[in-house]
Amino acid sequence: MQKAGMSIDVNKKISKIDERIYGSFIEHLGRAVYEGIYQPGNPNSDEDGFRKDVIELVRKLNVPIVRYPGGNFVSGYNWEDGVGPKDKRPVRLDLAWFTTETNEVGMQEFQKWLDKVGADMMMAVNLGTRGPDNARNLVEYANYPGGTYWSELRRSHGKEKPYGIKTWCLGNEMDGPWQMGGKTPEEYGRIAAEAAKLMKWTDPDIELVACGSSNSHMPTYGKWETTVLSHVYDYVDFISMHEYYGNPDDDTPTFLSETETMDKFIKAVVAFCDTVKAEKHSDRTINISFDEWNVWYHSKEHDSKLEKWGKAPHRLEDVYNFEDALLVGGLLITLLKHSDRVRMACLAQLVNVIAPIMTDDEKAWAQTIYYPYLHASNYGRGTAICVDVDCATYDSRKHRNVPYLDSVAVLSENAEDLTVFVLNRNLTEDMDVVMKAEGLSLEPVEHISMEGFDLKAVNDAQTPDAVKPTTKALKDGNVHVSKASWNVLRYKVCK
Ligand code: AHR
Repeated sequence: MQKAGMSIDVNKKISKIDERIYGSFIEHLGRAVYEGIYQPGNPNSDEDGFRKDVIELVRKLNVPIVRYPGGNFVSGYNWEDGVGPKDKRPVRLDLAWFTTETNEVGMQEFQKWLDKVGADMMMAVNLGTRGPDNARNLVEYANYPGGTYWSELRRSHGKEKPYGIKTWCLGNEMDGPWQMGGKTPEEYGRIAAEAAKLMKWTDPDIELVACGSSNSHMPTYGKWETTVLSHVYDYVDFISMHEYYGNPDDDTPTFLSETETMDKFIKAVVAFCDTVKAEKHSDRTINISFDEWNVWYHSKEHDSKLEKWGKAPHRLEDVYNFEDALLVGGLLITLLKHSDRVRMACLAQLVNVIAPIMTDDEKAWAQTIYYPYLHASNYGRGTAICVDVDCATYDSRKHRNVPYLDSVAVLSENAEDLTVFVLNRNLTEDMDVVMKAEGLSLEPVEHISMEGFDLKAVNDAQTPDAVKPTTKALKDGNVHVSKASWNVLRYKVCK
């Protein structure tokens, strides 16, 4: 048993959290849309063809915003293909994932689904094969009240009131050679600036996300951010970050230290934003939309052998294990620690494709990573507060002096509840943690945890409930934190 100390000082506020930090992502990819959220004729589907069991699991997650329709898919997408009468919609080849897209679901249907799950749309426009003109037409179609060509077209499609989509992405991963219409930072910066201008002239209330690097290993990383921002700075509100993590070498201590990789990446992108701010003598601050993050590696070998042009193939269907849930918990802690600048983030993705929720024809179930996301999204609303952790550290293959414990606290909006999220990445020893709270009198409520599972244990179609959290009473004073565990400590704040 190791000893550790945690001290929460209510005066060390990080930020009020933008709830969009708990966003997610649905792309036209694999079985995310078709067979994931939409499966007409399935006994579990409702009158609109949407899977009711999936809706229920998504509602529990309390997802505030969902990015759509891609991802790589958006870079070849004609949004007009997905609106209007279904029998007139074209079937197209999708060159992002080499599948056949039927367009049975487009923004009309997706908005209907979002209304059922209680989330907003984060809409991405195609800046790969298309440009500013189609982007501004889409804003007019979606958000302009009526009396113009595109707004009347929307109304003729049965949507009288505007969609009122607030958050928009200016393309996706435009630095990637895999991207349809990939661009240099200069090319993208110019096109994104012009698209942004036209989109905001059409609807000044929208917020825009410019593409950052596809990940921190891209050859243009850094130069991409500063060049793009030099063009778009005055027109956009966010720059995107994307990163996926994996454990292909079966080195769990290194895998669990990937929170440090994310931390370093965020600090660097914040520095790039603020460098351009200083160069431009600007008063505006560009924040971060970490709009793709997750574990992604289990399915890669399977996917490399897929046949082309299938409809809704089993692609990117990572089956997540317990250690993946631990890392996802740690990554959520990292995002919250940076919630002053990471205002939005999307767990990529939501259903069937690198997802917390899986389906087959009979049922839907929660993967291991569903639970830390559920906890953070439900108990992590309010103000993020620093937790000073005093514990032993270890060296991983990638990072030195990694603290075994990682933690952040959240004070609820009404200041009545305090939740402390704690990851213990010590794989062999439990921790006895002395908790101190400065400026707060706390009454312990409950200790939710995921602990005691084999690191490789999974929830799958045969054992959908093998890995899930348990709840026990939380006692005053020392908190016992098990080896390899995800912990949610819940307190009432006494007045
Ligand atoms: O989320 C899966 C894919 O990962 C997205 O389409 C792309 O943006 C990223 O490379």
